[in-house]
Amino acid sequence: MVAMQLTAKSGAAVSAKTDLLVLVLAEGDEPEFPRGFEKAGAAAARAGDLPREFLATCALYPDGNAPQKRLLLASAGKDPDAEKLRRVAAACQQAAEKLAARDYVIALAPKVTAAIEDQAAGLALGEGVVLGAYEYRPPSAEKAEPKKARRAAVMAMSGGSKGALSRSFTKNVRRGVLRAQSVCFARDLGNRAGNLLTPTKLAAEARKLAGPHLRVRAVSEAQMERLGMGALLSVSRGSREQARLIVLDYHPPRAKQTVCVVGKGLTFDAGGISLKPSAAMDEMRYDMCGGAAVLGLFHGIQSGAASPQCRVVGVVPASENLPGGQATKPGDIVRACNGTTIEVLNTDAEGRLILCDALAWAIQTHKPKACVDLATLTGAVIIALGHEVTGCMGNDQELIDEILAAGEASGDRCWQLPLWEVHKEQMKSKFADLKNINAKGDGNGSTAGGAFLSYFVGDTPWVHLDIAGSAWNAKAKDYYRGGASGVGVRLLLEWIERRR
Ligand code: BES
Ligand code: ZN
Ligand code: ZN
Repeated sequence: MVAMQLTAKSGAAVSAKTDLLVLVLAEGDEPEFPRGFEKAGAAAARAGDLPREFLATCALYPDGNAPQKRLLLASAGKDPDAEKLRRVAAACQQAAEKLAARDYVIALAPKVTAAIEDQAAGLALGEGVVLGAYEYRPPSAEKAEPKKARRAAVMAMSGGSKGALSRSFTKNVRRGVLRAQSVCFARDLGNRAGNLLTPTKLAAEARKLAGPHLRVRAVSEAQMERLGMGALLSVSRGSREQARLIVLDYHPPRAKQTVCVVGKGLTFDAGGISLKPSAAMDEMRYDMCGGAAVLGLFHGIQSGAASPQCRVVGVVPASENLPGGQATKPGDIVRACNGTTIEVLNTDAEGRLILCDALAWAIQTHKPKACVDLATLTGAVIIALGHEVTGCMGNDQELIDEILAAGEASGDRCWQLPLWEVHKEQMKSKFADLKNINAKGDGNGSTAGGAFLSYFVGDTPWVHLDIAGSAWNAKAKDYYRGGASGVGVRLLLEWIERRR
């Protein structure tokens, strides 16, 4: 990842000296052409080429002395909102890269500013530019020359007090940039190939986040053994790679309560003995995206993207799921650290096995006021909701509502699925307390996963987010161009900030 920098500056964009000036217009905005662009602008207007539709652009070149080499007009369309602005900002960043601009200045026209609150506009702009600049670079390419346009400024379109940037806008551009950098950090982890990001390597990445008030440690398999984490260990048995339980503990001085955030860190899911079909199996590198979201949250806490008032404990069970000679077999019975016995009927339903030990341990050890988990848990959630939204369920409607609201505010959206007594009943086994899959005829896949997990959280308010659809494969949309999406990071940062 090559970080993109966007800063808010005072002064008038129309007089800024830069490689590229970008004006974001909404329908009905009459562009104000900077010195040197008057003729080109008038000609474009006469030809009917000024961009009107959402994401339309038009590049203009000056006819004489101008402080800018080029002007790009970009349209946020009709009724601009934060999501549209995030997308236009990302599209402008990509246009600046194509033009090989060394730097650029971006400004919002009056109708855009009027339509979106300063806070939301600042966030969306900061996020859009940085997310739009994201491109996965394999470790071998990390040292290569980055593309241009890694520096940009946002300014008021024209001078004078009326056009000046508000404090709230400026502050939120900074927050947006920081948030997006944490999303990019999570994307980088998600995109890394299975052999390049094993559980031990994921733990090493987590350790790099340690700093003031943030302790990071990794529980070894021998320690898990002592803690009785038979469910987590049963998944790791088929692989030569050692599992890790990564624990991040952010403890600010005056914290009054604790929240736990747990993320599935399955660095490669072949399915185990219940082997997956080979088509697209490489995509199972993304099976640690829940864990990546948790690490992204702590990345953001360290950078100042959020300043939680509570103690935040992150727990990432990390393992591979492979069909080695020692692997757990369908029908095997294992015991989780809270004493619950589980009949493993399908070794490919491994996410819930590593999560149940992590959840039970986190809750027992830290007695949190709230617990949220994120996991690429079920293919079924893709059938139910597709790739554009995260499935959400839990045992406490107040906490579910908090998460849904944080999702709406951050653009990292969730949709609630039911989690009822009937679903919990489906998970009871004849041979153990629970089985790790429900019956074929039951038909519900995602709520079965959630129902299984519910047995390990007791009365602690808890939300389970199934990100199997949203972690990758969403439709490309300017600020997301494929690969790991970094889903959950913006959501968690927003949620943690709101929780006072
Ligand atoms: N990691 C997968 C879920 C998954 C599937 C995520 C496709 C993204 C895309 C998970 O471990 C799994 O294999 N789940 C099984 C559960 C089933 C055996 C009850 C599934 O969804 O098929
Ligand atoms: Zn699986
Ligand atoms: Zn999995």
